[in-house]
Amino acid sequence: MSFEFIEVNPQVAPFVGLIRLNRPKELNALNLQLMGEVKQALAQLDEDEQVRAIVITGNERAFAAGADIKQMAGKTAIDMLKIDQFSTWDAIRKTKKPMIAAVSGFALGGGCELVMHCDMVVASETAQFGQPEINIGVMPGAGGTQRLTRAVGKVRAMEMVLTGKFITAQEAKEAGLINKIVPVELYLEEAIKMASTIAEKSPIAVQLAKESVLKAFDTHLQEGLYFERKNFYMLFATEDQKEGMNAFVEKRKADFKGR
Ligand code: CAA
Repeated sequence: MSFEFIEVNPQVAPFVGLIRLNRPKELNALNLQLMGEVKQALAQLDEDEQVRAIVITGNERAFAAGADIKQMAGKTAIDMLKIDQFSTWDAIRKTKKPMIAAVSGFALGGGCELVMHCDMVVASETAQFGQPEINIGVMPGAGGTQRLTRAVGKVRAMEMVLTGKFITAQEAKEAGLINKIVPVELYLEEAIKMASTIAEKSPIAVQLAKESVLKAFDTHLQEGLYFERKNFYMLFATEDQKEGMNAFVEKRKADFKGR
């Protein structure tokens, strides 16, 4: 896979793929091409049987400072409608494998929204999260008002979205936006470690478990429980379920094949 604005390593560790946003001079501002590349890379990693979890990262200074303001500045509403950039985000949201964001420095606007498209988040002590679109006369457009509110609650989301104020890694952790804070030299390693732990599990169980947790965001409890139950039953059709339970009984480590 060769791209201009991202780097992809399909085996950064066994069964773990890595996508690195790589537009460092612009603080990884998410232009349309970069987002298209992320979508394409995710689709390829999602298809690849040798990949069971995906880490998305930037660099030490910036995960991503948001959508590319220079690219959007002159656009009209009709231009934006025709460009339909959010269909790319919809495709990213549909990634079946777990995605872990490894964040250092700025995760702002679309950068913060990309973090929230991931399933777990490891941050360095220097990470800052924000939805500063209000400072440039707009508002979040890639799910910021919805996912942030679900993640951190109404008053914190309002403060970030209406004042544009950034929050620190510590505040993001306290608010439930991220899983873990580690020293800056360890954030990527730690995210890969988290991905590797998931990669040891049955990939089918992981996929259905992810799908079930995400279902909790767009349905009511009874329907969510019903959905969960169906996925639970379905896993009894897999060899991995037999392997996992037999390995427990035989006191050995399970060897999951994804079948
Ligand atoms: N779009 C385009 N270029 C950007 C950018 C962005 N979102 N963020 C940074 N850059 C560029 C800067 O223009 C600058 O380029 P030049 O060297 O050519 O001038 C370069 O990256 C470095 O940035 P700064 O000099 O500004 O660095 P700093 O350390 O002084 O400030 C910052 C860092 C606070 C992140 C500041 O760059 C900033 O405020 N960036 C914009 C953040 C923002 O508003 N994001 C939301 C975008 S809209 C959006 O995301 C909509 C959506 O929901 C999808």
